Amino acid sequence: MPGRTLGLVVMALVALAGCGPGGGGGGDDGGGMRLRTRSRGATEATCPDGSTLTYETFGREFFEAYCVRCHDSQLATVGERNGAPLGTDLDTLAGVEMHLEAVDSAAAAGPTRVNLYMPPPSSSAIPSDAERDQLGEWIACGAP
Ligand code: HEC
Repeated sequence: MPGRTLGLVVMALVALAGCGPGGGGGGDDGGGMRLRTRSRGATEATCPDGSTLTYETFGREFFEAYCVRCHDSQLATVGERNGAPLGTDLDTLAGVEMHLEAVDSAAAAGPTRVNLYMPPPSSSAIPSDAERDQLGEWIACGAP
């Protein structure tokens, strides 16, 4: 827990530094100031030529690490799912595809914003902004 708190503090400092009046900037980390928020919204991520992210190279591992402890089709009750709604199952690609837009606005990042709605802040494993960027890219590429 202390380690994660420290990590969050460091991330907040990095985010603040990125927002400094550096002038000219824009080049670092996808371009200057980004909204980091628990409110949900479109990431405006785009699919770069030659993106290598697929469910096999990225998605499965991401959802297993950060989502499936609550959003698993094997968990039958809301209680077992730590309150996650029944039917929002992210343990297969088909399940993810059914909720692609909601996943994007809950957990992905892009040039203008970092969506921090999911996982809940109290969750034991939280993805980095870089991983959220990858999620945004993967979804923008059509979740291959
Ligand atoms: C610790 C448990 C937990 C984890 C881990 C978790 N969620 Fe959730 N999720 C919830 C709960 C509880 C809700 C419902 C309450 C709410 O919407 O705030 C929810 C709701 C959602 C919804 C909204 C469903 C709807 O129809 O409104 C989406 C989408 C979602 N989660 C995606 C994710 C993604 C993607 C991850 C991983 C990056 C994730 N969740 C990780 C507990 C969790």
